[in-house]
Amino acid sequence: MSAKLYTYEEIAQHNSREDLWMVIDGKVYDITSFQDEHPGGEEVLLDEGAKDGTSAFEDVGHSDDARDLLKKYYVGDVDPTSKPIKVERPVEAIPEVPKGNPLRILIPLVLFGAYVYYSYFL
Ligand code: HEM
Repeated sequence: MSAKLYTYEEIAQHNSREDLWMVIDGKVYDITSFQDEHPGGEEVLLDEGAKDGTSAFEDVGHSDDARDLLKKYYVGDVDPTSKPIKVERPVEAIPEVPKGNPLRILIPLVLFGAYVYYSYFL
């Protein structure tokens, strides 16, 4: 039986925590349910998901066990006529920029200034 083929456009649709695919070595994996189990965390999977994550996967030097695990999530092959497309990271995965309230610094500074003023000039 020949494997089901998916284009990069189709793969790119599966780009969220609720539905995440990844390409490794020309094979397509549905790793939605694996996100919670990944010893390397779910963030990297979302980062590399919906596209070809082969180099990220290889760079880490995953064990044979990790490679074995892939079989469980295999859904098909990449359509060899399809070309990789640019995939944006899903919006939900972009970490929040920590926003500090500027008053956190300003208020102690004003109090300190007042303290110095009263101690030395009055
Ligand atoms: C579906 C694909 C993947 C599977 C099945 C998988 C599986 C695993 C497994 C079983 C481990 C434990 C160590 C080992 O056996 O090698 C691991 C660790 C790790 N994985 Fe993945 N992985 C996948 C994709 C990725 C990707 C794309 C990245 C991106 C950088 C990544 C980053 C890591 C890191 C950093 C660790 C080390 C965690 C630690 O030891 O603290 N993995 N992965």
